[in-house]
Amino acid sequence: MRKMRIGVLTGGGDCAGLNPAIKWIVKSALDERLSQEAGITFEVLGIRDGWKGLMNPQGCNPAPHGDVVALNQEVVRTWDRYGGTMLGTSRSNPYDPKHNAAQVVLANIEKLGLGALIAIGGDDTQSVAQKLSKEGVNVIGIPKTIDKDLPGTDYTLGFETAVEVITQEIDRLRTTAGSHKRIFVVETMGRNAGWLALEGGEASGAYIILIPEYDFSIERVCELLLEGRSQGIRYDIVVVAEGAKISGGGQSFAREEIDSFGHKSLGGIAETVARQIEKQAQLETRSIVLSHLQRGGTPCAYDRRMGRYFGIAAVDLIVNQQYGRMVSYRNGKICAVPIDEVIGKLSLVDVETLYDTERYNGRRAILRKVGRNHG
Ligand code: F6P
Repeated sequence: MRKMRIGVLTGGGDCAGLNPAIKWIVKSALDERLSQEAGITFEVLGIRDGWKGLMNPQGCNPAPHGDVVALNQEVVRTWDRYGGTMLGTSRSNPYDPKHNAAQVVLANIEKLGLGALIAIGGDDTQSVAQKLSKEGVNVIGIPKTIDKDLPGTDYTLGFETAVEVITQEIDRLRTTAGSHKRIFVVETMGRNAGWLALEGGEASGAYIILIPEYDFSIERVCELLLEGRSQGIRYDIVVVAEGAKISGGGQSFAREEIDSFGHKSLGGIAETVARQIEKQAQLETRSIVLSHLQRGGTPCAYDRRMGRYFGIAAVDLIVNQQYGRMVSYRNGKICAVPIDEVIGKLSLVDVETLYDTERYNGRRAILRKVGRNHG
C-alpha cells in the first residue's frame, strides 16, 4: 500500500471554522475505509503558525515547542467545538523580499516528506499556495476569511460566525441606545469588501449600512436619521464597514505599518461618522469598533458543518490527485476551482443588485425589478 504524508496549515487572520476543517482533514485522511478504497495510507502533520512554520532555515522542529505536530483522531477529537486555530497562524509571507524564504519553505517541505499540503486561508495564504504549486508542490486550498472576499466560492469559513457576533453585539447595543436616545455607529471588519457590514447589518436590522463598494454622503446619513427622529424613533444603529469612505474622502487607517502582504490596518471610520452626525444632525452619537470580537468565540453550527465538508473535500482532492485547486462552495454544492482563478481579485458586493443606494441599506427588491413599469 502506498504511503503519503499530508501537511496542513492555517494562515492569515484567525476565525471560527478553522478547527472543524483541520479535524475533518485528519479524520478523513486517517479513515481506514478510505485507505482500503484508495490503496493509500495517510499521515497528517500540522504546521504551526501558518507559512512561518515552514520558514525556519534550520529545518522544522517537532512539538511541543517546534513548528510541526503529528495529528491523529485522538488529538483532534474535540477541536471542532473551538474557535481560532489550534495550529496557530501568522501573516508571514515566504515570498516577501524581506524574508526571501521561498527556497527554505521548499526545502522544508522536502525534508518533512510532504506529499501534499493543505493551506487553509484567505487571499494572501492562497497566493503563497499558488506560487508553491507552480514550483511543483502538491497544494490544496481551503477558503477561509470573515471578509468573504475570495472569488471562486460562495462561502469562506468564519463568515457566518462573525455575522452572528455582529448580530448579538448590536442586540446588546439596542437596549442602551434606546434608553439614552442615542445613535450608535458600529464598525465592522471586512477590509475592502462590504459583505460583513451588509449581511451583519441586515441580520441585526441596522437602519443604515455603509459599505466600501459605495461611497456615502454624511449629509444623506443625517437626513435619514432625522427622518427617523421626526417619526418618533428613539435611537438608531448605523453599521459602517472599516473600509467604507465618505464621498470625496479616503479610507481611515488605524496604523501606518504595512504587513508582509502589503496591507495597512483599516480602522477609525465609525468615530469619524459619529462626530459628523453629532455636528451636522445634533443627535447624541457613540461609536464602537467590534474589531477582533468578530473573529473570536466558538464556531456557529454553519461554520462547523462547512469546516467539516471543506476538510473532507480537501482529502478527496488529494486522493484524486487534483492538486493546485481550492475547495469551493458554489450554488449549494461543494466543488473545487483552480487556485489560479482566485488570486489577484476580490469578491465584492454587487451594489446594483444587493444594495439600496438611496437608503443606504440592503436591497428591498429580491424577485422584483425596481422601477419596472407595469403600465
Ligand atoms: O482579513 C481578516 C481581517 O479580520 C480583516 O477584516 C481585518 O481588516 C484584518 O483581518 C485585521 O487584521 P489583524 O488581525 O492583523 O489586525
